[in-house]
Parts: sequence; structure tokens; C-alpha cells
Amino acid sequence: MKNILSFIESNHSRYLSELKELLAIPSVSSQSARKPEMRRTAEWLKKHMLNIGLENVRIMETAGHPVVYADWLGAVSKPTILIYGHYDVQPEDPIDLWKTPPFAATERDGNLYARGAADDKGQIFIHLKAIEAFLKNTGALPVNIKIILEGEEEVGSEHLGKFVTENKKLLKADMIVISDSGMFAKGVPSVTYALRGLAYMEVEVTGANTDLHSGSFGGSVHNPIQALAEMIASLHDKNGRITVKGMYDDVRSLTNAERAAFKKLPWNDRKYAKSLGLKQLYGEKGYTTLERLWARPTLECNGIWGGYTGEGAKTVLPAKAHAKISMRIVPDQSAAKIAKLFEKHLQAIAPKTVAVKVRYLHGGEPAITPVDSPGVKAAVAALEKGFGKKPLYQREGGSIPIVVDFKKLLGIDSVLLGFGLPDENAHAPNEFLNLDNFFGGIKTVAHYYNELPQFWQSGKKK
Ligand code: BES
Ligand code: MN
Ligand code: MN
Repeated sequence: MKNILSFIESNHSRYLSELKELLAIPSVSSQSARKPEMRRTAEWLKKHMLNIGLENVRIMETAGHPVVYADWLGAVSKPTILIYGHYDVQPEDPIDLWKTPPFAATERDGNLYARGAADDKGQIFIHLKAIEAFLKNTGALPVNIKIILEGEEEVGSEHLGKFVTENKKLLKADMIVISDSGMFAKGVPSVTYALRGLAYMEVEVTGANTDLHSGSFGGSVHNPIQALAEMIASLHDKNGRITVKGMYDDVRSLTNAERAAFKKLPWNDRKYAKSLGLKQLYGEKGYTTLERLWARPTLECNGIWGGYTGEGAKTVLPAKAHAKISMRIVPDQSAAKIAKLFEKHLQAIAPKTVAVKVRYLHGGEPAITPVDSPGVKAAVAALEKGFGKKPLYQREGGSIPIVVDFKKLLGIDSVLLGFGLPDENAHAPNEFLNLDNFFGGIKTVAHYYNELPQFWQSGKKK
């Protein structure tokens, strides 16, 4: 291990220049104009994975953006890890708010700023560099490794379930590791054991059959923007609870033990509010902030538009208004069921003055993973070595849709070993990856590969 760790130490600047190349390709999965960039990113990864010594490297087609696959299976009678990551990123807008360009990665204050730096290209790279350190120094890995990198995570992993179903044999593994989440705080490493799911909806409200003069018609017609605003405002009650009928039916209650464990985590509401520039936090009454973030469903309006938003004034009574509304869901809710409840509720509250259309854009199921598996025990040990501190256990508010599909289709639990930070601006302007976490992550992952066989063996003996 000494050689491996000193190799990692002495290659920091090369790692950064390579990662900058990867971050320079604007792989925004949601924008069709970026389709060629998606392909370019897949090609870049393929070439890079060949260079570091991985085998059977290939780009595999799906009905959407391609998956990049590679493996190294020379560790006889050792366990096989399937590593999953995503090379697609969120759109960079609003571009004006970036201090340095989103696709020209820039080092500042010990951070690397770029779209995808933390979510998830930087974290993919942590694994690639740990793999490279072993293969370049010893010609072998301590475990067998298979990697799939997908290009559609940020748009709900629509085609990955089918891909997994069709490639069950190829993806057969003993465990799955995903580095696409965060640590609890800087200097506080953690293992994540639960993710929320998501149901993403779009709403269209139509009033009259054309835009109208607001002087000639105002007073006789319900403005669709007003109707939509009234509906959205009614989706929460004064206790911050979601009013969609049936919303909480399947919500698994937190156990007393879990509530107690959350309370022990180093958390301060005042500091948290201040870091966000807020005077006061908002949320469901009767729950702490961490409970609300990790274990309670939420409903957010992600965008709202309609009418005139250009320069100057225009006295129009618009014909249509739109909103994007998504709900984070928790065990044991299901995305499809929540989507149906939402649609039913919206139709029920829609005033007769307008017509409402609801569309289900995409969803992902919530996940809880075991914490007593050899894979998690190895992660705890590796984090302690990589960061010099015992990690804590946490849940996350975000979603990684494929985690539940992996369990359903392959029967394998995922270990969520993340190196992001809560303030890294994922999905926002000025996303960054903290470089201590990047290099600490590479070391941690190297320890992880190295120690997993022992943990696996002792897990089997029991
Ligand atoms: N890496 C995130 C998920 C995440 C966020 C995990 C925060 C842990 C903490 C992932 O790339 C993501 O953004 N997922 C989307 C999924 C959605 C598009 C189905 C999300 O959570 O919004
Ligand atoms: Mn991600
Ligand atoms: Mn993301």
C-alpha cells in the first residue's frame, strides 16, 4: 500500500489536469443540442479507462445516451465490485452567476470549480485514479472491478433499468459502490445509508382560448397564472405539511433510535440558516431539520412561467400558465403512486374557470441500504484511513434512481461512499469539488479496494 499511496501523492497535478479535460466537455444530458458532447464524453472516458489499464472497455448503446463499461477481473477468488457513476451534468445556467466559466475548471481556495466537479465527474475520477495507482504500480487490483458510467442520471436514468435487465450477466457482482453523494461536512466523513426518491410533474393551466387584452377582459376571466398560484399555494398547510390527499399514507415513520441518532450529529440550525443567507428556516412542524431533509416527503415548485416576462410592460391576460413541481419521497412511498395522487389532487382542486393538465416527467424510488454489510464495514475502515477520522452514518435528501433498480434487478445493495460537500453548489452556479476531499477520496478508495477482500471473507464466515 505504501507504493500506492506515494504514487497518489506524487501525481496530484497530473490528476487535476486530466480531470480538467473531462470537465471541459459540456455533457448536459437534458439538452438535445449537447448530444454530440455526451458522445464525446463517453469517448474520452473510454480512452482514459483503456490508458489506465482497464479491460473490455466499451461504449454500450441505450435508447438514450450511451453507457461506458470497463472491467478488470484478474483477482482470482476475490470479490467483485460494480462501480456506478454518471458522466452527465446539470445545465450550467444561470451562466452570469458563475465567477469562472462552468466548463473551464478553475482552482480557487483549495477547490476546483466547474459544472460536474463534484456531481459526478470528479467522484468518478476518484475511482479511476485509485484503479490506475494499483494497475500502474503492481499490474493488478486487490479486487475484481466492473464499472458502468451512465449519461442519464440527471434526467432520471430512464434507460438504465432496461440496460441492467439486458446485461445481468455482464454486471454480476458481489457488491455495488457509488460515489455520488456527500460527506456530512468538511472533515466529517460519512457513509450514506438512505436516499429519497422523486416524482417530477409538469402542470399546464389553460384559461381562455387566446391571450386577451387585460383591460377589455380583466374582471371577467380567471387569470391562469393566478389560478395556478392559488393551487400551488394550497399544496402546503400552515404547518408546512403537504396537502395532497394520501401523501403521507405510505411514509415509514422514523424509529426512536433513528431520531436519537440524528440528534447526535453535529448540526446547528442557526449556522445552517446563516450559511444560506436566511433569517429563518421553513419546514414541516414536529420534525427537526435533518428529519425533514432525510426522512420526510417534500413538495417543491421548481419553476413557474407564463404571460409576459420581456422588457417593459405588456397588459396581457395570458391564456396559459405552467409550473414544474417535484416531490421528494421516502420509504415506503412509490413514485408512480405519488404521481397519480398528485394528478388526482390537482384535478380535484382545479377551479372550473380553467383547465388543468398534469404530466409525469420522471421518477425514482427511495432507497435504504443495510449498514451491517461487509461492504459498508470496509467503507468505514477505509474512510478512517483516508481522512483520519471515524465516519458517521447519515441519510441524504437527494436521489439516485438506479440504487433501487440495482437491488430489484441484480439483488445487490449499494454502498454509498461519497466525497462531495453540502455546500459544493451541485446543480447551482459555481459548483466545486474540494481538493482535500478529492485526494482524500482517492486514498480512501485505494484503501477500500485493498481491504474489501478481508471484510468480505470475515462476512462470509459468520
Ligand atoms: N448526486 C445527486 C444525488 C444526491 C444529491 C445524492 C445529494 C446525495 C446528496 C444526483 O446526481 C442527483 O442530482 N440526482 C437527481 C435525481 C433526479 C434527476 C431523478 C436529484 O436528486 O435531483
Ligand atoms: Mn450525481
Ligand atoms: Mn445531480
